[in-house]
Formats: sequence, structure tokens, C-alpha cells
Amino acid sequence: MSEEEQIIDSRTELDVLLSEEQIQARIKELGAEIARKYEGEDLHVITVLKGSVLFAADLVRAIDNDHLSMDFIGLSSYGASTKSSGVVRMTLDLSEPITGRNVLIVEDIIDTGLTMKYLLQNLRTRQPKTLEVCTLLHKPSNTTVEVDIEYIGFTIPNEFVIGYGLDYAERFRNVPYIGVVRG
Ligand code: IMP
Ligand code: MG
Repeated sequence: MSEEEQIIDSRTELDVLLSEEQIQARIKELGAEIARKYEGEDLHVITVLKGSVLFAADLVRAIDNDHLSMDFIGLSSYGASTKSSGVVRMTLDLSEPITGRNVLIVEDIIDTGLTMKYLLQNLRTRQPKTLEVCTLLHKPSNTTVEVDIEYIGFTIPNEFVIGYGLDYAERFRNVPYIGVVRG
């Protein structure tokens, strides 16, 4: 059976890589760090759809800031494969300008870095005041292009993970922990 077929198999077993408790504890730390950084300032949180929605929903509740606003951008780079296509497509644009604002990008995972490089280049042309990146997961072993990441939840090995928003072919986003597929 190919890797793709294994993952689709309904009897597939998921191993827990990061538990709900581990994720929530780390989010509290990240939220506190981000709140300190933007104390007394506005903060515009841009969530990358779809995978980052669960993470962003928990993260913003851990950021104590009365001037926090949110927007969403849709990017797609994978299709139904576990390998990066390297081709990034915008599926939904922001709903408002970011010129002169403190922008924080919230991403589920940075793998090759290609998606984030595309997004940073795109958003920089809109001239935000500041532009930072927060990712729940980082797979440094797969880095193809270097991007600056200010906040990293967890550094993980080069395995395809699912759950807590992350999908394989649109499945498993609702799994409450980060899991690895074991055939
Ligand atoms: P990159 O462009 O290779 O850095 O990939 C970033 C995007 O690929 C993320 O936003 C995810 O949607 C997807 N991705 C990368 N690795 C994984 C994984 O292990 N599981 C699920 N999605 C992944
Ligand atoms: Mg994805």
C-alpha cells in the first residue's frame, strides 16, 4: 500500500505527537509573550486558512490586548498530497487594508517555508507597520527557503502530522491533538 492509501484507510491508527494539554500549555506561553511584545499597541492577527483556524482561536484568547483585531487569508499549497507542491495559490484575500498596522501572521505549520515566503512578500507590499510570524509547528529539516519566525510553538521531526486544524486531503482537522499516521 502506498503512503497515500494507508492514510486514507479507515482503520488507520493515529499516534499522539502533541496532546491537547501540551498544546494548550504552550499556547498560554505564546499568548503571554505576544501580549508583552504588543503591550499598549494595536495588534492585527491574520490567520491563514484553513489549517490555522483552531490554533488562532485558542491563541487570541491567550493574548491579553484590548486592541486586537482579526482577519483571514486563504492559501493553498498542497492539494491532496503529503508533499509540498511548491505552488502557492491565494484562495481568499484579506477583508481590509493592513497599511500602518502591527500584523501578526498565525500559521499552523511551516514546512519548506515556501508558503510563508510567498505570504510575507505579498503582505510586505501592503506596507504594514510591523510584520511578525507565529507558527504552531515548525519542521526545520524540510526547510527550502529561510523565513524569520518570531514565535514557534513546537519544533517537530519530518513527519506528516494531522489534527488540531491540520488535514490530510481535508480529513482529520477535527482531531483535538496533533497526531502522526501509523499505517
Ligand atoms: P510549506 O509551504 O512547505 O512550508 O507548507 C506549509 C503548508 O503546508 C501548511 O500551511 C500546511 O497547510 C501544509 N503542511 C505542511 N506540512 C504538513 C503536515 O505535516 N501536515 C499537514 N499539512 C502540512
Ligand atoms: Mg493544508
